Amino acid sequence: MRRFRCTLAFSTALLLGAQAPTPLKLPLPTAEGASLQAALKGRATVRTLVGPALSLAEAGQLLWAAQGENRPGKRVVPSARAKYPLELYLLSSGATDLPAGTYHYCASGHTLTRLADGTPGTVLGAIKGMQAWIKDAPAVFVVAGEASRIGEGAPALNLTYYEAGAAAQGLLLQATALGLGAGTASGVDLGAVTQALKLPKGTQALILLPVGHVKL
Ligand SMILES: Cc1cc2nc3c(=O)[nH]c(=O)nc-3n(C[C@H](O)[C@H](O)[C@H](O)COP(=O)(O)O)c2cc1C
Repeated sequence: MRRFRCTLAFSTALLLGAQAPTPLKLPLPTAEGASLQAALKGRATVRTLVGPALSLAEAGQLLWAAQGENRPGKRVVPSARAKYPLELYLLSSGATDLPAGTYHYCASGHTLTRLADGTPGTVLGAIKGMQAWIKDAPAVFVVAGEASRIGEGAPALNLTYYEAGAAAQGLLLQATALGLGAGTASGVDLGAVTQALKLPKGTQALILLPVGHVKL
């Protein structure tokens, strides 16, 4: 099933007319660095985000912290009945080893597949009422969910929102530990974000996580 989800992203890219995507192998996540205690103490919403754009290694570490595998078939963040309803997308403004574009994260292979052109500014900036600090961020991670993988109705939706929150906190703590600035945003038209990213049917954007360097 996990392989199917990653293949689905591939098909979406082809449908969008993008060049045949070769998944980018992300550098292996590291378990070294700042202490969890220091990251917990330092986490705060940072809205003054500037470049340079995130490198492939930084993006990979953040994606892993939100939804990566830390044991075969199991992830850093817990999931109700291990159904894994979340999908992670990344909008990059373009670094040397991570060109501008929209990407989908595949947890099982720890890879990124480029789905389409665009930057946070061009993709999210077109959405009415979009907050400036989000569209101007060097990178925006989008936590999306397909609640039907868990079940039906409000209970499945609640569990999916719970998992999105857990994934978001993992990414935010990791950003802090890397010395990056990051924030949470859901006060935007998430339906429009879902459409702008052309997410697969049944998958909806739940939380946006703008990330960048802290403007001094
Ligand atoms: C679910 C959720 C949605 C949020 N949406 C937005 C948002 O749309 N725009 C924004 O500027 N901040 C947003 N925030 C950030 C909160 O304003 C921020 O967490 C709060 O002011 C506490 O500050 P702190 O994160 O620095 O501790 C959101 C936070 C959460 C948890």
